Amino acid sequence: MTMHLVTTNYQATIAYGYQLGQLLQPQDLILLDGDLGAGKTTLTQGIAQGLGIKRPIKSPTFTLIREYQSGRIPLYHMDMYRLENSSADELGLSEYFNGDGAVVIEWSQFIKDLVPTSYLRIVLKQQQPTSRELTFQALGCRYQQLLQQFQQAIADK
Ligand SMILES: Nc1ncnc2c1ncn2[C@@H]1O[C@H](COP(=O)(O)OP(=O)(O)O)[C@@H](O)[C@H]1O
Ligand SMILES: [Mg+2]
Repeated sequence: MTMHLVTTNYQATIAYGYQLGQLLQPQDLILLDGDLGAGKTTLTQGIAQGLGIKRPIKSPTFTLIREYQSGRIPLYHMDMYRLENSSADELGLSEYFNGDGAVVIEWSQFIKDLVPTSYLRIVLKQQQPTSRELTFQALGCRYQQLLQQFQQAIADK
């Protein structure tokens, strides 16, 4: 199941992230791919707000993983862009995948082989300076349901 959306400004990307964040459950896995500046961290910021996290999301580029515990459920935000400096095997990813929070991974293509086979993947593409195309790909029952709920939520808005 796939879906396309276009956002024409930063706030719209935040707003979509917010809608998605409200729907997330523990062990949900969201993969974000797209070039630098495509809007992955911006979308994550919206997801965090939708989870009720007040503190700003900082790009975890150097730390690879940041944990946010102040929302409805924990958010584990990862960025694999600089993975070459450390081994993915040492990150303890499965503990996050099987943990008590939702996982969002920027640059998930760099750990393709370590990622479970069910997920919601969102590929972001810059079209104009302030517009982005978002392509949603849901693999597995849970994520097809999640994507349907998300479609419903944005249609109701
Ligand atoms: N429609 C849009 N959606 C998301 N970001 C946008 C949009 N238009 C402009 N921007 C800008 O693009 C940049 C996206 O940066 P960021 O979210 O850090 O990207 P990434 O994490 O993919 O590298 C931000 O500076 C943001 O203000
Ligand atoms: Mg980023």
